[in-house]
Amino acid sequence: MDAIVAVDLDWGIGYQNELLFRIKADLKRFKDMTQGQVVILGRKTLQTFPGGRPLPARVNLVVSRNPSLVIEGATVCHSRAEVLTAVALYPDKHVYVIGGSSIYREFLPDCQHVYVTRVQRHQQADTFFPDLDALPDWRCVRSEPVQEENGLLFNYLIYEQAHRS
Ligand SMILES: NC(=O)c1ccc[n+]([C@@H]2O[C@H](COP(=O)([O-])OP(=O)(O)OC[C@H]3O[C@@H](n4cnc5c(N)ncnc54)[C@H](OP(=O)(O)O)[C@@H]3O)[C@@H](O)[C@H]2O)c1
Repeated sequence: MDAIVAVDLDWGIGYQNELLFRIKADLKRFKDMTQGQVVILGRKTLQTFPGGRPLPARVNLVVSRNPSLVIEGATVCHSRAEVLTAVALYPDKHVYVIGGSSIYREFLPDCQHVYVTRVQRHQQADTFFPDLDALPDWRCVRSEPVQEENGLLFNYLIYEQAHRS
């Protein structure tokens, strides 16, 4: 399993349950990578999607402690163990952890790679991804050239977890 995240220079990922940035090229890349695959997301991140609906053309595993939550077009999982059981049903699909903060932290040990979009800004944030540069098990194995969209500079990085490579 891998994670995909867009961060600012301080590893901020969200503010008031919204994304910090909307970069069309990055959203398209996210769609291209995850389409047809399995995505794992927290219940709060689901709320940030259009209409609060799961992502189309993907297996959505939504994590919530609410035992009575039912979401059309998604499987609700109530624990990390339930997520891992559900993931095992899709051995031919790639599995992406897509946030938010609590879900990234919970599943980071299970991830082999993290696909990071790093936006060259210090943005106000209240939710963060773990600083992979400060974690001894993680190293950056690829850094693509900086791009620009509507004045925002960003680049794509890939981090790899040592004992999972
Ligand atoms: N920049 C990015 O790439 C990116 C990507 C995704 C999200 N985000 C941002 O991240 C923020 C949301 O992150 P967040 O950490 O506040 O929320 P979150 O991780 O999306 O969802 C948190 C919810 O997940 C459920 N949950 C978490 N751990 C669980 C467990 N072990 N067992 C069962 N349920 C569990 C709980 O749902 P219940 O309350 O229903 O029990 C909890 O309230 C937003 O600002 C969003 O825009 C950014």
